[in-house]
Amino acid sequence: MSNPNPHDDLRQLVAAAGHMVAFTGAGISAESGIPTYRGDDGLWNKYDPAKFANIDNFFKDPGYYWNFFREVRYPVISKAQPNDAHTALAELEAKGILKAVITQNIDGLQQAAGSKNVLELHGNTRRIICLQCSRQHAMDDVYQQLDNELPPICPSCGGTLKPDVVFFGESLPADVLEGAVAAAQACDLFLVVGSSLVVQPAAGLPALARRNGARLVIINRDPTPLDQMADLVFNQRASDVLRTVSS
Ligand code: APR
Repeated sequence: MSNPNPHDDLRQLVAAAGHMVAFTGAGISAESGIPTYRGDDGLWNKYDPAKFANIDNFFKDPGYYWNFFREVRYPVISKAQPNDAHTALAELEAKGILKAVITQNIDGLQQAAGSKNVLELHGNTRRIICLQCSRQHAMDDVYQQLDNELPPICPSCGGTLKPDVVFFGESLPADVLEGAVAAAQACDLFLVVGSSLVVQPAAGLPALARRNGARLVIINRDPTPLDQMADLVFNQRASDVLRTVSS
Protein backbone atom coordinates (compact mmCIF):
# COMPACT_ATOMS: atom_id res chain seq x y z
CA MET A 1 0.00 0.00 0.00
CA SER A 2 1.48 3.26 -1.15
CA ASN A 3 -0.23 6.06 0.82
CA PRO A 4 2.40 8.03 2.79
CA ASN A 5 0.04 7.97 5.74
CA PRO A 6 -0.31 4.34 6.82
CA HIS A 7 -2.92 5.34 9.38
CA ASP A 8 -5.17 6.37 6.50
CA ASP A 9 -4.52 2.97 4.92
CA LEU A 10 -5.48 1.26 8.15
CA ARG A 11 -8.68 3.27 8.47
CA GLN A 12 -9.54 2.36 4.85
CA LEU A 13 -8.90 -1.34 5.50
CA VAL A 14 -11.07 -1.28 8.64
CA ALA A 15 -13.84 0.63 6.82
CA ALA A 16 -13.74 -1.86 3.93
CA ALA A 17 -13.61 -4.97 6.17
CA GLY A 18 -16.65 -7.23 6.19
CA HIS A 19 -15.22 -9.65 8.74
CA MET A 20 -12.39 -8.29 10.88
CA VAL A 21 -10.61 -10.40 13.48
CA ALA A 22 -7.95 -9.30 15.99
CA PHE A 23 -5.13 -11.43 17.40
CA THR A 24 -3.46 -10.11 20.54
CA GLY A 25 -0.39 -10.86 22.61
CA ALA A 26 1.39 -9.55 25.69
CA GLY A 27 2.24 -6.27 23.94
CA ILE A 28 -1.38 -5.07 24.12
CA SER A 29 -1.30 -5.38 27.94
CA ALA A 30 2.15 -3.82 28.36
CA GLU A 31 0.57 -0.38 28.69
CA SER A 32 -1.55 -1.79 31.53
CA GLY A 33 1.65 -2.52 33.46
CA ILE A 34 1.87 -6.27 32.72
CA PRO A 35 5.37 -7.16 31.50
CA THR A 36 5.66 -8.97 28.17
CA TYR A 37 7.53 -12.28 27.92
CA ARG A 38 10.25 -11.55 25.40
CA GLY A 39 10.48 -7.75 25.15
CA ASP A 40 13.26 -5.79 26.95
CA ASP A 41 11.23 -6.03 30.18
CA GLY A 42 10.39 -9.64 29.32
CA LEU A 43 9.35 -11.94 32.14
CA TRP A 44 11.27 -14.85 30.61
CA ASN A 45 14.49 -12.77 30.78
CA LYS A 46 14.24 -12.98 34.58
CA TYR A 47 12.31 -16.21 35.15
CA ASP A 48 13.06 -19.45 33.32
CA PRO A 49 9.78 -20.56 31.66
CA ALA A 50 10.97 -24.18 31.86
CA LYS A 51 10.73 -23.80 35.63
CA PHE A 52 7.81 -21.40 36.09
CA ALA A 53 5.50 -22.23 33.18
CA ASN A 54 6.08 -25.91 32.40
CA ILE A 55 3.46 -28.56 33.20
CA ASP A 56 5.95 -31.30 34.17
CA ASN A 57 7.61 -28.94 36.65
CA PHE A 58 4.22 -27.88 37.97
CA PHE A 59 3.27 -31.47 38.74
CA LYS A 60 6.71 -32.15 40.26
CA ASP A 61 6.51 -29.12 42.58
CA PRO A 62 3.36 -26.94 42.36
CA GLY A 63 4.71 -24.80 45.22
CA TYR A 64 7.33 -23.44 42.85
CA TYR A 65 4.68 -22.00 40.55
CA TRP A 66 2.43 -20.78 43.38
CA ASN A 67 5.30 -18.85 44.95
CA PHE A 68 5.98 -17.21 41.57
CA PHE A 69 2.27 -16.48 41.27
CA ARG A 70 2.16 -14.87 44.77
CA GLU A 71 5.36 -12.85 44.40
CA VAL A 72 5.39 -11.95 40.70
CA ARG A 73 2.15 -12.55 38.78
CA TYR A 74 -0.72 -11.75 41.16
CA PRO A 75 0.56 -8.33 42.34
CA VAL A 76 0.70 -7.13 38.71
CA ILE A 77 -2.31 -8.85 37.14
CA SER A 78 -4.68 -8.22 40.06
CA LYS A 79 -4.39 -4.47 39.77
CA ALA A 80 -4.06 -4.16 35.97
CA GLN A 81 -6.77 -2.23 34.09
CA PRO A 82 -7.61 -2.29 30.36
CA ASN A 83 -5.87 0.43 28.32
CA ASP A 84 -6.95 2.39 25.22
CA ALA A 85 -5.86 -0.44 22.92
CA HIS A 86 -8.18 -2.95 24.63
CA THR A 87 -10.95 -0.33 24.64
CA ALA A 88 -10.51 0.41 20.93
CA LEU A 89 -11.00 -3.27 20.07
CA ALA A 90 -14.07 -3.48 22.31
CA GLU A 91 -15.53 -0.41 20.59
CA LEU A 92 -14.90 -1.91 17.14
CA GLU A 93 -16.73 -5.05 18.28
CA ALA A 94 -19.63 -2.99 19.63
CA LYS A 95 -19.90 -1.29 16.22
CA GLY A 96 -20.15 -4.74 14.60
CA ILE A 97 -16.86 -4.26 12.69
CA LEU A 98 -14.67 -6.60 14.76
CA LYS A 99 -16.11 -10.12 14.97
CA ALA A 100 -13.69 -11.73 17.43
CA VAL A 101 -10.53 -11.22 19.46
CA ILE A 102 -8.19 -14.22 19.51
CA THR A 103 -5.86 -13.67 22.47
CA GLN A 104 -2.76 -15.39 23.79
CA ASN A 105 -3.07 -13.34 27.00
CA ILE A 106 -4.21 -14.87 30.29
CA ASP A 107 -5.04 -11.52 32.00
CA GLY A 108 -8.74 -11.18 31.07
CA LEU A 109 -8.26 -7.46 30.24
CA GLN A 110 -9.97 -7.69 26.84
CA GLN A 111 -13.19 -8.86 28.45
CA ALA A 112 -12.76 -6.23 31.20
CA ALA A 113 -12.69 -3.65 28.37
CA GLY A 114 -16.12 -4.90 27.27
CA SER A 115 -15.30 -7.38 24.49
CA LYS A 116 -17.77 -10.26 24.24
CA ASN A 117 -16.30 -12.67 21.70
CA VAL A 118 -12.81 -13.39 23.10
CA LEU A 119 -11.04 -16.67 22.28
CA GLU A 120 -8.49 -17.33 25.05
CA LEU A 121 -5.97 -19.66 23.41
CA HIS A 122 -3.78 -19.87 26.53
CA GLY A 123 -6.56 -19.71 29.13
CA ASN A 124 -7.08 -17.19 31.90
CA THR A 125 -5.19 -16.90 35.22
CA ARG A 126 -8.23 -15.34 36.95
CA ARG A 127 -9.79 -18.82 36.88
CA ILE A 128 -8.24 -21.44 39.15
CA ILE A 129 -9.28 -25.05 38.55
CA CYS A 130 -9.16 -28.08 40.86
CA LEU A 131 -7.54 -30.94 38.93
CA GLN A 132 -9.52 -33.51 40.96
CA CYS A 133 -13.10 -32.18 41.23
CA SER A 134 -12.84 -29.57 38.39
CA ARG A 135 -14.44 -26.92 40.57
CA GLN A 136 -13.48 -23.37 39.56
CA HIS A 137 -12.16 -20.90 42.13
CA ALA A 138 -11.51 -17.16 41.84
CA MET A 139 -7.91 -15.95 41.64
CA ASP A 140 -8.36 -13.49 44.55
CA ASP A 141 -9.76 -16.20 46.87
CA VAL A 142 -6.89 -18.57 46.13
CA TYR A 143 -4.39 -15.76 46.62
CA GLN A 144 -5.80 -15.21 50.14
CA GLN A 145 -5.29 -18.92 50.82
CA LEU A 146 -1.56 -18.71 50.06
CA ASP A 147 -0.68 -17.11 53.39
CA ASN A 148 -1.70 -20.29 55.20
CA GLU A 149 -1.21 -22.93 52.54
CA LEU A 150 1.30 -23.09 49.66
CA PRO A 151 0.66 -24.89 47.37
CA PRO A 152 -3.04 -24.18 47.86
CA ILE A 153 -5.45 -27.11 47.91
CA CYS A 154 -9.06 -27.24 46.77
CA PRO A 155 -11.34 -26.12 49.63
CA SER A 156 -14.01 -28.53 48.35
CA CYS A 157 -12.09 -31.80 47.83
CA GLY A 158 -8.50 -31.20 48.93
CA GLY A 159 -7.29 -31.61 45.34
CA THR A 160 -4.47 -29.82 43.48
CA LEU A 161 -5.29 -26.30 42.30
CA LYS A 162 -3.93 -25.05 38.97
CA PRO A 163 -4.51 -21.78 37.12
CA ASP A 164 -6.71 -22.32 34.04
CA VAL A 165 -3.79 -21.45 31.78
CA VAL A 166 -1.85 -23.47 29.20
CA PHE A 167 1.64 -24.23 30.50
CA PHE A 168 4.43 -25.19 28.12
CA GLY A 169 4.06 -28.91 27.48
CA GLU A 170 0.25 -28.69 27.51
CA SER A 171 -2.10 -28.62 24.52
CA LEU A 172 -4.32 -25.65 23.82
CA PRO A 173 -8.05 -26.10 24.57
CA ALA A 174 -9.29 -27.86 21.40
CA ASP A 175 -12.61 -26.00 21.16
CA VAL A 176 -10.95 -22.59 21.50
CA LEU A 177 -8.25 -23.44 18.94
CA GLU A 178 -10.93 -24.69 16.56
CA GLY A 179 -12.83 -21.41 16.96
CA ALA A 180 -9.64 -19.41 16.34
CA VAL A 181 -8.81 -21.39 13.18
CA ALA A 182 -12.37 -20.84 11.90
CA ALA A 183 -12.14 -17.10 12.65
CA ALA A 184 -8.79 -16.84 10.82
CA GLN A 185 -10.20 -18.69 7.80
CA ALA A 186 -13.42 -16.60 7.71
CA CYS A 187 -11.94 -13.11 8.14
CA ASP A 188 -11.04 -10.60 5.42
CA LEU A 189 -8.90 -8.47 7.76
CA PHE A 190 -6.60 -9.99 10.39
CA LEU A 191 -5.12 -7.49 12.86
CA VAL A 192 -2.16 -8.57 14.99
CA VAL A 193 -1.61 -6.45 18.12
CA GLY A 194 1.41 -6.82 20.41
CA SER A 195 2.81 -10.27 19.72
CA SER A 196 6.33 -11.43 18.74
CA LEU A 197 4.62 -14.21 16.73
CA VAL A 198 7.11 -16.91 17.76
CA VAL A 199 4.95 -19.30 19.82
CA GLN A 200 3.08 -22.05 17.97
CA PRO A 201 0.38 -23.00 17.24
CA ALA A 202 -0.96 -19.47 17.87
CA ALA A 203 1.64 -17.82 15.64
CA GLY A 204 0.43 -19.90 12.68
CA LEU A 205 -2.93 -18.09 12.58
CA PRO A 206 -1.86 -14.87 10.78
CA ALA A 207 -0.41 -16.91 7.88
CA LEU A 208 -3.57 -19.04 7.80
CA ALA A 209 -5.70 -15.89 7.48
CA ARG A 210 -3.38 -14.63 4.73
CA ARG A 211 -3.59 -17.92 2.83
CA ASN A 212 -7.39 -17.57 2.97
CA GLY A 213 -7.19 -14.18 1.27
CA ALA A 214 -7.39 -11.85 4.27
CA ARG A 215 -5.46 -8.56 4.48
CA LEU A 216 -2.90 -8.69 7.28
CA VAL A 217 -1.95 -5.77 9.55
CA ILE A 218 0.71 -6.07 12.28
CA ILE A 219 0.95 -3.56 15.15
CA ASN A 220 3.97 -4.50 17.25
CA ARG A 221 6.65 -2.34 18.85
CA ASP A 222 9.41 -4.61 17.47
CA PRO A 223 9.68 -6.34 14.07
CA THR A 224 8.19 -9.84 13.80
CA PRO A 225 9.06 -12.81 11.54
CA LEU A 226 5.80 -12.25 9.61
CA ASP A 227 6.22 -8.56 8.76
CA GLN A 228 7.12 -9.28 5.14
CA MET A 229 3.76 -10.96 4.49
CA ALA A 230 1.76 -8.10 6.00
CA ASP A 231 -0.07 -5.38 4.06
CA LEU A 232 0.70 -2.86 6.81
CA VAL A 233 3.21 -2.91 9.69
CA PHE A 234 3.26 -0.42 12.59
CA ASN A 235 6.28 -0.71 14.88
CA GLN A 236 4.53 1.56 17.38
CA ARG A 237 2.61 1.40 20.67
CA ALA A 238 -0.71 -0.40 20.25
CA SER A 239 -2.79 2.36 21.87
CA ASP A 240 -1.30 5.08 19.63
CA VAL A 241 -2.28 3.18 16.48
CA LEU A 242 -5.65 1.79 17.57
CA ARG A 243 -6.87 5.17 18.81
CA THR A 244 -6.73 6.28 15.17
CA VAL A 245 -9.23 3.60 14.01
CA SER A 246 -11.78 3.31 16.80
CA SER A 247 -12.73 6.99 17.24
N1 APR B 1 2.47 -1.84 21.84
C1 APR B 1 2.69 -2.76 20.84
N2 APR B 1 3.59 -3.79 20.95
C2 APR B 1 4.27 -3.88 22.11
C3 APR B 1 4.13 -2.94 23.17
C4 APR B 1 3.17 -1.89 22.99
N3 APR B 1 2.96 -0.96 23.93
N4 APR B 1 4.98 -3.29 24.18
C5 APR B 1 5.63 -4.43 23.76
N5 APR B 1 5.21 -4.76 22.52
C6 APR B 1 5.60 -5.93 21.71
C7 APR B 1 7.07 -6.32 21.84
O1 APR B 1 7.78 -5.70 20.79
C8 APR B 1 7.04 -7.85 21.67
O2 APR B 1 7.46 -8.23 20.35
O3 APR B 1 4.86 -7.02 22.21
C9 APR B 1 5.55 -8.23 21.84
C10 APR B 1 5.28 -9.24 22.94
O4 APR B 1 5.89 -10.44 22.56
P1 APR B 1 6.04 -11.62 23.64
O5 APR B 1 6.58 -11.08 24.89
O6 APR B 1 6.78 -12.72 22.95
O7 APR B 1 4.52 -12.04 23.94
P2 APR B 1 3.54 -12.98 23.08
O8 APR B 1 3.81 -12.88 21.62
O9 APR B 1 2.19 -12.69 23.55
O10 APR B 1 3.98 -14.43 23.61
C11 APR B 1 3.27 -15.55 23.14
O11 APR B 1 4.45 -16.97 24.68
O12 APR B 1 5.40 -17.17 26.73
C12 APR B 1 4.33 -17.55 25.97
O13 APR B 1 2.17 -18.21 26.68
C13 APR B 1 3.00 -17.10 26.56
O14 APR B 1 1.07 -16.20 25.41
C14 APR B 1 2.46 -16.14 25.50
C15 APR B 1 3.15 -16.58 24.24
